[in-house]
Amino acid sequence: MACAACAPAANVPGEGTDGGARLNESHDMPRVIYIHPNGERDEVEVAIGQSLMLAATANDLNGIVGDCGGVMSCATCHVIVDDAFAALLPPPVDTEHQMLDYTAAPREAGSRLSCQIVMSDALDGIAVRIADPQL
Ligand code: FES
Repeated sequence: MACAACAPAANVPGEGTDGGARLNESHDMPRVIYIHPNGERDEVEVAIGQSLMLAATANDLNGIVGDCGGVMSCATCHVIVDDAFAALLPPPVDTEHQMLDYTAAPREAGSRLSCQIVMSDALDGIAVRIADPQL
């Protein structure tokens, strides 16, 4: 829930006026935009060093399961990274590549396991589309 100090002013771009929920509010953390299969968006502030899978499950976002806890053995954290940010990510390791071949939803060019995307300041504003289905 937004505190009074960070409650958005009307019609400020990126400040929650697009109908998306804002979760995990604070003032200093970079943000991730999770795009659900129905087009709804959740904007979440994520601590530096936290994976996008853990941030999603900690905020009870639908669609990212994370069954294995982030050890690349379930592929239930599949997301498609926006092109603008995909180039900023380190390339997938061999195990991630292999798991992306077994996702429930078809693999796409921007497909990644969100448990392997670690938040940093450089990723502030990253948009990831939640793959559907995950299981
Ligand atoms: S949480 Fe299992 S592969 Fe990402």
